[in-house]
Amino acid sequence: MTITQETYETSANYLKNLVPKEFQTVKFGIICGSGLGGLVDTIDQSTKVEFPYETIPGFVSSTVVGHAGKLVFGHLGESRKPTVFMCGRFHFYEGHNLQQCTLPVRVMKLLGVETLVVTNACGSLNPEHKVGDLMILNDHLSLPGLAGNNPLIGHNFDSFGPRFPPVSDTYTYNLRKIAFKAALEIGIKQDDIREGVYAFVAGPSYETRVEARYLASIGADVVGMSTVPEAIVARHCGIKVLGISLVTNAVVVARGKDAKKEVLVELGLSTEEDTEIDIEGYKANHEEVLETSALRAVDLQKLFLCFTSSSYTM
Ligand code: 6GU
Repeated sequence: MTITQETYETSANYLKNLVPKEFQTVKFGIICGSGLGGLVDTIDQSTKVEFPYETIPGFVSSTVVGHAGKLVFGHLGESRKPTVFMCGRFHFYEGHNLQQCTLPVRVMKLLGVETLVVTNACGSLNPEHKVGDLMILNDHLSLPGLAGNNPLIGHNFDSFGPRFPPVSDTYTYNLRKIAFKAALEIGIKQDDIREGVYAFVAGPSYETRVEARYLASIGADVVGMSTVPEAIVARHCGIKVLGISLVTNAVVVARGKDAKKEVLVELGLSTEEDTEIDIEGYKANHEEVLETSALRAVDLQKLFLCFTSSSYTM
């Protein structure tokens, strides 16, 4: 299916017609990453309105475990700010194209969203970024984008933004500052909240060891399979973006044991011992990702509430 201006408008109008008056304009949006759907618990449960993705015109269906697949409107915390949540998102690796994956961002724009918080689970490449740490994105690296998979390829929708948008300022500086203040205010330790570069890869396979070393060497602190297409589309249409990553696992960057060296030593043909560490037993897996997100979920909810109560984001 080709996406046209009408696709976005049909989708937005469908939602506007079904939500109560107070949600017809929402200024605040959030996309909940793997295992982070609990963020939606920060809204008033008695006034929330939910739309399973498959019921919304133009939306595809989400297929990943840990992603519920619904759009939820609600009042956030004490400020009761009308907010729209994506619980579950669309990934490139599910087989959708990037225009389909990012369609909800433009629908949010049409609903009035001015500030978008994009969250994700990621693997750390930087040894300083520990499992359980939160990282505020200050930049991204999009290998699929550089190689021809950018969500803005194709017809430019001038009503949303320019043909050649800058993305060097995608992650709004002021929002990053507010996020750090909020994190410290709710008691997250200085060493547990970081700032850094997110590398977007297509997935669904995790990285090989040399791919991980490559990403680290070109400046990435963490790696994941989401967020960047949505952030680009949001930046294109003038939405301010805050990106928050939760480090759910450490990516294997070690070279691993040298089989040849070990064999030569075993056969007495060499005395040069292998000094590389044994990483054979460790493999990235989705269960670990979901377990870690469960552990930090409450902190992230608190951070989100504190962040959104700030006057700047009103
Ligand atoms: Cl290790 N890699 C990628 N590409 N995505 C992830 C991840 C790793 N951990 C969580 N998401």
